[in-house]
Parts: sequence; structure tokens; C-alpha cells
Amino acid sequence: STGVFTYDPGFMATASCESKITFIDGGKGILLHRGYPIDQLAAKSNYLELCYLLLNGELPTAEEYQEFSETINRHTMVHEQLTQFFKGFRRDAHPMAVMCGVVGALSAFYHEAMDISDAYHRKVSAHRLIAKMPTIAAMCYKYSTGQPFVYPRNDLSYAENFLHMMFATPCEEYKISPVFAKAMDRIFMLHADHEQNASTSTVRLAGSTGANPFACIAAGIAALWGPAHGGANEAVLTMLDEIGDESRIDEFVARAKDKNDPFKLMGFGHRVYRNFDPRAKVMKETCDEVLAELGLSDDPQLKIAKRLEQIALEDEYFVERQLYPNVDFYSGIILKAIGIPTNMFTVIFAMSRTIGWISHWNEMISNDYKIGRPRQLYTGAPQRDLPNR
Ligand code: SDX
Repeated sequence: STGVFTYDPGFMATASCESKITFIDGGKGILLHRGYPIDQLAAKSNYLELCYLLLNGELPTAEEYQEFSETINRHTMVHEQLTQFFKGFRRDAHPMAVMCGVVGALSAFYHEAMDISDAYHRKVSAHRLIAKMPTIAAMCYKYSTGQPFVYPRNDLSYAENFLHMMFATPCEEYKISPVFAKAMDRIFMLHADHEQNASTSTVRLAGSTGANPFACIAAGIAALWGPAHGGANEAVLTMLDEIGDESRIDEFVARAKDKNDPFKLMGFGHRVYRNFDPRAKVMKETCDEVLAELGLSDDPQLKIAKRLEQIALEDEYFVERQLYPNVDFYSGIILKAIGIPTNMFTVIFAMSRTIGWISHWNEMISNDYKIGRPRQLYTGAPQRDLPNR
């Protein structure tokens, strides 16, 4: 027992690390950040306060929150030279390819971050990443549209600033809808951290070599991109577009069950949750709020999504395999309603997850650690001699 949870000995033997940051009980559909349930945090906190909690372990006092918020604001701009990196990409490059390259390039601008043994430098790197990821994400979008980059503003909240940098232009301010800003902040919170998922484990493995935090986060971005992981939110919208109409749902459900067909229902299933993903419940409520605000409650894609969810709760194939909607199932519908293009969905996931990645990195580097070295089962050829030639 770790004092919080009692694991079976078999699980203890396979665990890759210990952490105090996030607890998941996949069987009960529980997700705790530093002990606080995700649904309570989503209802009563905000993303920036959650960043403080994940990084520091406790909720901030009002003064600590004010200071943290002002510190983050001071780091939201990127070095003007960094804008040159974008010019090397084609305008139609996938924004994730651009984000991966640009975030890795941050290593070239903050040489002091290489000294990962210094707690102050580690904290500044974390603040820089929390602050600059929305700026870089919005720049990835602006670059793809041919519009000029829009600078961050210190008078806006974290979510408002992101929407401002995405949609304002030098000719016209963007009128920020409070419903959209709240939905964005909620999406940031629901994607913030999720224990040892594939991308966080990638960040930890990269960090275990002593690599600088910006390089480790770039590795996490690359791992997140896959459709089985963070790329699923973009894949959900592609799937809903492909289904197109409620009359074709049964055809796609049959394909999802067909072992000879690689098609899977995007947004369903999870390696850990064998119950409802608690984030999906909050995301569905947020989706209903945003679409109601826009008068789109009968949006055809939402109708298809809700029908698919109902099938997952009733159909024997899905019930047997405990395949429930996950965090990615409804997020894409919300982002599309806000006006964000599908190729930006995983960029937003990466931006949100940065606090999880850097909190896990900092937790590992702040304690004793060894270089990661996953072991393998060798199934290749036995030793043999080269033929005489
Ligand atoms: C995220 O790890 C994390 O925490 C990740 C994440 C995070 O916050 O970091 O939560 C974010 O990545 C969420 C997952 C997003 N991915 C998707 O929505 C893609 C679609 N889902 C599947 O690819 C799949 O469910 C996984 C990858 C998510 C989980 O795969 P597992 O745990 O390896 O499950 P499995 O393949 O062992 O599935 C068991 C059975 C199999 O059938 P059988 O061989 O038993 O007959 O369920 C089937 C699978 O074929 N199955 C599906 C399915 N997912 C699993 N069948 C149809 N549609 C699906 N989506």
C-alpha cells in the first residue's frame, strides 16, 4: 500500500514510477489531481490555478495566485527571433509538426535551462512553457492562415488570451464570448494531466537522460500526435464527418466490431478506464452548454455522437469490452463550434497537457532518478557465424 491506494503485488512489480501528482482508478472512473476530484476542479477552479496545484502540490492562496498569474503573464511573449522558425515550414504544414519543431527550438533560447539541477531554473522553465504554449499554438494557426501573429495581452485571462491570439487581427479585435472562454478553460483543465499516459511517459524517459525541459516537452508533443492518443480528438471529427448521417451509424458500428477492419470508433475506449472517463462527463456538459449558446443543440454531428454514445452503453460488443466515451469524444465538437479547425485540436491538447508533462518532469528531476531503460523479450535469431564469402 502507498498509504493512498492498495495495489496488488503484481501491479507494484510492474509500476514504472511513483508520483504524487495524479491518481486514476480506471475501474471506478476516478481522477484526482493532488487529491482533488477532476469534476470539483472543473466546476470551481480554473486552468491557471490547476497549473499551480499540479506544479506545487497545493492550491495557491489568493496572494500566491495573483503573483503566479502575473509571473505567467510576463513570460507570454516569445523571442522575436523564434518567429523566424515558422518561415521554414510550408503554410500547409500540420500545426503539430510546426509546434513540435518550435517548442524544441526553445532550447536554443534559454541556455540556463540546461542546468536542470537548479530548482530555480527548473521553475522558470515551467513558467516559460505554461506561458508560451498558447502563444506558440496560436502562432501555428496564424501561420497556416497567412495572417500576422497576434501578440498576447496581459489584461486577458489565460483562455481569453488564447482566443484573442487565435482570432484577432491587426485590423479588428476579436469579441471574446464568455461561454467560449469558459469552454476553452474547461478543455484546458480536462486535458491538463493524466498520470503515466504515453506522452507523459515519453517526457519522463527523455528527462531521465538529463535532457533539457524544452527538448523533453517536444518529445511529449511528438508522442501525443498519434491518433490512438492525443490525435483522437481530430480523428473523432473526421469520423463523424465520414459517418455523415445517423442512417449510416450502424454501418460504422459493424465495421468497428469487424476484426478484419482496422476501423475503430475514435473517442471510445481507454487503456485504464473500464468505466466512464470522468473527464468525458464534464466535457459532454460543456458541449451541451456551448451548442445551446449557439442554438446548435440539434447539430447533426452532436446527434451522431449522442447516438454512438448510447450504442456504447447498450451494445454487447462495447459493454463486454467496457468501451466508454473518453476525454476526446466531445472535445472536438466543442472546438469546432468555437471555430477552431480540426488540425488544431491536438495542438490544443498539447498546450493543455504541457503543465502535466512539466510537473512530472520536475517531480522526477527533483528526486533521485536513474536513466530509463525499458527491458525487452528477445525473440530474434540465436547467435550464429557469418558464412565464408
Ligand atoms: C487518450 O493513457 C491515457 O491516459 C490517454 C489519455 C490521456 O489523457 O493522456 O486519456 C488520452 O489517449 C484517450 C484515448 C484516445 N484514443 C482513442 O479514442 C482512439 C480509439 N480508442 C482505441 O484506439 C483504444 O481504445 C485505445 C488505444 C484508447 C485503448 O486501447 P487498449 O487499451 O489497448 O484496448 P484494447 O485494444 O486492448 O481493446 C480491447 C478490445 C479489443 O477488442 P478484442 O481484441 O478484445 O476483441 O476493445 C476493442 C479492441 O479491438 N476496442 C475497440 C476500440 N477500442 C478498443 N473497438 C472499437 N472501437 C474502439 N475505439
